[in-house]
Amino acid sequence: MNKRTVFITGGSRGIGKAIVDGLKKAGYKVLSPTRQELDLSKNESIKSYIQTHKNDKIDIIINNAGINYPQWIQEMTDENIESTLQINLDAPIRLISGLVSHMKKQKWGRIINMSSAFGIVARGKQVLYCATKHGINGLTKALALELAEYNILVNSVCPGFAETEMVLRNPKEKIKMIEKDIPLGRLVQPNEIAELILFLISNKNTYITGSTIVIDGGFTSK
Ligand SMILES: NC(=O)c1ccc[n+]([C@@H]2O[C@H](COP(=O)([O-])OP(=O)(O)OC[C@H]3O[C@@H](n4cnc5c(N)ncnc54)[C@H](OP(=O)(O)O)[C@@H]3O)[C@@H](O)[C@H]2O)c1
Repeated sequence: MNKRTVFITGGSRGIGKAIVDGLKKAGYKVLSPTRQELDLSKNESIKSYIQTHKNDKIDIIINNAGINYPQWIQEMTDENIESTLQINLDAPIRLISGLVSHMKKQKWGRIINMSSAFGIVARGKQVLYCATKHGINGLTKALALELAEYNILVNSVCPGFAETEMVLRNPKEKIKMIEKDIPLGRLVQPNEIAELILFLISNKNTYITGSTIVIDGGFTSK
């Protein structure tokens, strides 16, 4: 039985669900709040969650939840601007700040921030998503430096197009075009991303920190 406790956001479905399943199978204790327990779009909800859980012995934080509603720059709604920045970037910063103290005290910890291939490259209509995913890579690097003396390893993971609701809500023709654009010719499965994260948070990872690790079937290599 693995005694470590993992806090993860967005564990209800998609990539987060695959990570939660992998964690449970590996024997981790998992804190995976529902949106009712922790609504990342509301700072009051984040504050109240931290207040309740700040003394929990959290060893690993996985900031997985994220949203992407592509819009051209002049069509952007206030709601999309605010919620994308809030959920993808602001919330992870606040959660790490509020929940990192046990890791610092015990001088062991792992933090994973879910980025994206669009944290490495860019595309039209992805201004908000790219801003947050490039941002999370910057936050990961700065945090890795700040927390290195506490033996806390901080990395971001950058998947290409994954077979989840975020991609599957596109028309079938668009998905076919996306697959054509990927050198390996297919979407990545959520469990393939989970396997990578299980390695990064384990004791087997002793030296990778501050890295942006790409798992995209070659998409960003073109
Ligand atoms: N899918 C891809 O192709 C892809 C590629 C690269 C990176 N990523 C990144 O990987 C992560 C997971 O993506 P996914 O495709 O698995 O997403 P998904 O299937 O759309 O699931 C999103 C998750 O985030 C949660 N969430 C959204 N808004 C929330 C809020 N306000 N408060 C609390 N939880 C909220 C959802 O909870 P509910 O069930 O309550 O809605 C759900 O668990 C994201 O950061 C995404 O940017 C995805």
